Amino acid sequence: MQLYIDSANLKEIEHAASMGFISGVTTNPSLLAKEDPKADIRKLLLDIHKNVGGHVSVEVISTDTEGMLREADEILSWFPDATIKIPFIPAGLAAVRNLSNRNIPTNVTLLFTANQALIAANAGATYVSVFLGRLDDISTDGVQAVRDTCEIWEVHGLESLIIAASIRHPIHLLECAKAGAHIATTPYKVLLQSIKHPLTDAGLASFLADHKKMMDAKGTS
Ligand code: E4P
Repeated sequence: MQLYIDSANLKEIEHAASMGFISGVTTNPSLLAKEDPKADIRKLLLDIHKNVGGHVSVEVISTDTEGMLREADEILSWFPDATIKIPFIPAGLAAVRNLSNRNIPTNVTLLFTANQALIAANAGATYVSVFLGRLDDISTDGVQAVRDTCEIWEVHGLESLIIAASIRHPIHLLECAKAGAHIATTPYKVLLQSIKHPLTDAGLASFLADHKKMMDAKGTS
């Protein structure tokens, strides 16, 4: 399972990318607004693209097909390898079909059931983003939606890539990897939580202390 960072914070994205295990970035209008409501969106996205390379999903805000396609063309004029993130609404599905026919990658967002993911795949989605955390928030099993989606993909050999999205904690990552999601787009905080382990830190501290003891004994520290 590949790991993307779900963020529009350049510092977070740069730090995550510098560690070498991130293959892409997903953004959405709320993440962009959270950073700086006055930000130059084009410049911020170009910086993200320049600093990370790889996949960058950029979401349209139109709710009609024509508007979505116009926005997609504008985003592609900024960087031609952008993935166009489209909300799962009927007008969005028509936009996905149009973009797919032109070989433009799409990420269908705001999916909460495996059926929605299946429909998005049939519309030609390159990526389907199944939101777990927001399901958990309303007392519905988010991981189960990802499991159902992965099972359907396995049975039918579907090609769209499943993105586990709306990840809230490291156990979500673990369960999505076990379910067979292709990608998990993960907040910076959860990436850091998943890296950290108290035994790793304690182990390193004792290795370094023992090495220092040896150096001290030899008088070379
Ligand atoms: C996915 O692409 C979305 O940006 C994201 O995962 C939404 O997560 P949230 O529920 O934490 O806002």
